[in-house]
Amino acid sequence: DKWAKTNITWHPSLSRTERNQLRGQRGFTVWFTGLSASGKSTIATALEQHLLHIGLAAYRLDGDNVRFGLNKDLGFSEKDRNENIRRIAEVAKLFADSSTIALTSFISPYRADRQIARDLHTSASQAGEDPLAFIEVFVDVSLAEAEKRDPKGLYKKARAGEIKDFTGISAPYEAPEAPEITIRTDDLSVEESVKQIVDYLADKGLIS
Ligand code: PPS
Repeated sequence: DKWAKTNITWHPSLSRTERNQLRGQRGFTVWFTGLSASGKSTIATALEQHLLHIGLAAYRLDGDNVRFGLNKDLGFSEKDRNENIRRIAEVAKLFADSSTIALTSFISPYRADRQIARDLHTSASQAGEDPLAFIEVFVDVSLAEAEKRDPKGLYKKARAGEIKDFTGISAPYEAPEAPEITIRTDDLSVEESVKQIVDYLADKGLIS
């Protein structure tokens, strides 16, 4: 047939288990969710740094590398946020499948979107393969505290009606019902928050 003539043959792809063994680590996704100014990005960045320091490949997806690039066509309507999260989930899954620890720090305010992200990971395995773990981290802060922090002055603008559809003010935030980890940033330091996540990952055998 035509392929025999061109000497091109299809190679079966590596299994994820084989890839993880060769890379010496498991890939999985740590999905942060929480209000603006909850501390998601700060904690995710500190966690990324910690994982890299102990020799693990980790990469954080955040607004800067996603909303300015891949998702620059999207705004903050419900429909656009759905699409934002769907694409991020697909990208995180690819990183995780490549034996990298993917960290995502997006508000991801809709429960259904986070469920889609989770299902995408947990249904992505062949029989006998290492599953793709999905760890949802709820960065739990009261709206009052987030509004008090207001590092970018966005809550103030939202209260004044200058930003529409602002999460927590004029758009919903649906808190997770059964996240793997809840972090109360009202009470914990960044270091304590990172430790809480690292302990969980070690306990589950995802990192060593
Ligand atoms: S989402 O809901 O997951 O699609 O949002 P995300 O991609 O994480 O983007 C949130 C950051 O965008 C800024 N911003 C807004 N947030 C919420 N609502 C509205 N309307 C909005 N407009 C701009 C805001 O700075 C968020 O940054 P963080 O880091 O979360 O504070």
